[in-house]
Amino acid sequence: MTGARSGASAGLTRVPGLLYGGDYNADQWPEQVWAEDARLMREAGVTLATVGVFAWARLQPAPDSWDFGWLDRLLDLLHAHGVAVDLATATASPPAWLVRAHPELRPVTADGVRLEFGSRQHYCPSSAVYRAAATRLTRALAERYRDHPALALWHIHNEYGDHVTECFCAESATDFRRWLTERYEDVETLNQAWGTAFWSQRYGCFEEIEPPRTAPGPGNPTQLLDWRRFCSDALLACHRAERAVLEEICPQVPVTTNFMSMFKALDYWEWARHEDFVSDDAYPDPADPRAHVTAAMTYDLMRSLKDGRPWLLMEQAPSAVSWRPVNLPKRPGLQRLWSLQALARGADGILFFQWRASVAGAEKFHSAMLPHRGTASRGWRETVRFGAELRRLVELAGSRLRGQAAVVLDWDSWWALELDEHPSARMRWPDLLRPWYAALYERGVTIDFVRPGAPLDGYRAVLAPNLYLLTEESAHWLTRYVHGGGTLVCGPFSGISDRDDHVHAGGHPGPLRPLLGVVVDEHWPIPDGASTTVRLASGEIRATLWSEWLETEGAQALAHYASGDLAGRPAVTRNVHGAGAAWYVGCHLGADIAAVLDLALAPTAIAPAFPLPLPPGVEATRRHAEDGTTYLCLLNHGPDTVRLTLDATGTDLLTGTAVAGRLTLGPLDAAVVRLHPTEDRA
Ligand code: GAL
Repeated sequence: MTGARSGASAGLTRVPGLLYGGDYNADQWPEQVWAEDARLMREAGVTLATVGVFAWARLQPAPDSWDFGWLDRLLDLLHAHGVAVDLATATASPPAWLVRAHPELRPVTADGVRLEFGSRQHYCPSSAVYRAAATRLTRALAERYRDHPALALWHIHNEYGDHVTECFCAESATDFRRWLTERYEDVETLNQAWGTAFWSQRYGCFEEIEPPRTAPGPGNPTQLLDWRRFCSDALLACHRAERAVLEEICPQVPVTTNFMSMFKALDYWEWARHEDFVSDDAYPDPADPRAHVTAAMTYDLMRSLKDGRPWLLMEQAPSAVSWRPVNLPKRPGLQRLWSLQALARGADGILFFQWRASVAGAEKFHSAMLPHRGTASRGWRETVRFGAELRRLVELAGSRLRGQAAVVLDWDSWWALELDEHPSARMRWPDLLRPWYAALYERGVTIDFVRPGAPLDGYRAVLAPNLYLLTEESAHWLTRYVHGGGTLVCGPFSGISDRDDHVHAGGHPGPLRPLLGVVVDEHWPIPDGASTTVRLASGEIRATLWSEWLETEGAQALAHYASGDLAGRPAVTRNVHGAGAAWYVGCHLGADIAAVLDLALAPTAIAPAFPLPLPPGVEATRRHAEDGTTYLCLLNHGPDTVRLTLDATGTDLLTGTAVAGRLTLGPLDAAVVRLHPTEDRA
């Protein structure tokens, strides 16, 4: 049974309101320090501490020796200070004794290098020894702490796939063959699916198959695609094994594992089914002036992964991280603003990595809620201030956003798109998605992500920036949507291949051809640094990376190439189906996609979260509570003070002041306005 305990509007865990806290690596500190930590947590308003994430070696110093005394005392202490515990199963960093006894559990790279102990995540996901040891530890923890009053949440493992997403050892090979046998049942079916007639790659039996280790030249695309699917599943099997133990022993406590935003290696649609709620680790780069747009995109994904239910920001840096080449701190106010942004996009808790700054280890220069300088630091003041502000927002807990447009995200398609030997190696899913998302973000339109086949009722538009891999069923799904009156906007290099990554023969975009009313004769990638002009009725825009020799078959061309080899040929088309419309954008337009989306979405009457125009840098969302209350969240990411005109009245929960007609937001400032009921017109 998965996800059965999630979604209570009362909150993510039994801790009421919005969660606040962070990773507390108490095992790095002498116990004398703990008392100060607990006192300071209370001072900062911390309600949840993630404990024991990397404590395996401390908890189990030898195969049959356990040391729980320190954790008993820690949980008691935190509980006595009103801090609930997100207890980690501690399985992301196997101890040295286990690795030395079973050196074969270390992961092997595609080049055959076995990774050494001395960092973390040094295990093979398919290792039976690792899985047995991890579930044994999980069981020991669950049995000991199942009834501890501090326990509010189980934190399985940590960031599955961080550092190691795949292992090419002999045991992984066996597991891969087992996975393939389940998928294909007989090797001839696999030969068909993998197209092994090519380059004499035919297999006589499953035993002849190996993982796609480094080979002389390009690998078999379907083997590589299946390998991606398998690797996501192998890690998920580790997670499910731990989850099963927790469900058996401690079914009353919710379970989560921290996702890593938009992470290619794991199919989070599948993973989310096994979480009670989604939690995410987000590390936007303070050096990137557009970081908040990417962050908004990933927060929308996190919310969407479990049907819009509130999620938890499990980790973010209070200021600088330590793992970029140059690690910029967050200037004053940025940590607050970015935390409020997660809340504005549906989070019900703000946690950090980490509580107290380490003085040893690879992360000793990573910022913390309690920095090296201690309570005299700016960081500490921000920690305390934000804890107090969160308490003013408590009523947001459980409220939800409503996406008006849906963006299709399919991990299968992402994996297949980015395989080698394509017309252009520049077609990377996040790069294709980002400008489409940014165009909607800048117009204040809230989107949800959906996977192929998901219900689309209520969405005024569906956007597919790329669907390279597209099954017949998914094409029917989109067709039904458009025939039902919906607007679809589909990006280039879509409808190319089927589930096995075989090309839909007969002309691209394969099964979408009748719906879109176009056929692609040939792909025409644009060289690095070059661009092509595209002429729309409203003016000229530019394509980079990608264009296509496109011919219409019923669709109307709304933009043409105005320069280059394709000059005069259609670039953007629309095929009308009754009240519905299917748009095709045959080139990569970067930020200029905004001009096309404006045209395509104009008839859909999508209402932004805030009446246009939003000043540059201002982000707006609305959270709706079950009782009908609406919260308008406004965030100013820009460097200037902005004055907004509101056609509503309400109360800014952050300041407690009444808002009527006008609202001024300084740089990096925000407002969370509880709207007066009659004033919510969205
Ligand atoms: C995360 C990880 C944490 C810590 C943090 C530093 O990816 O889960 O344990 O390493 O990064 O930014």
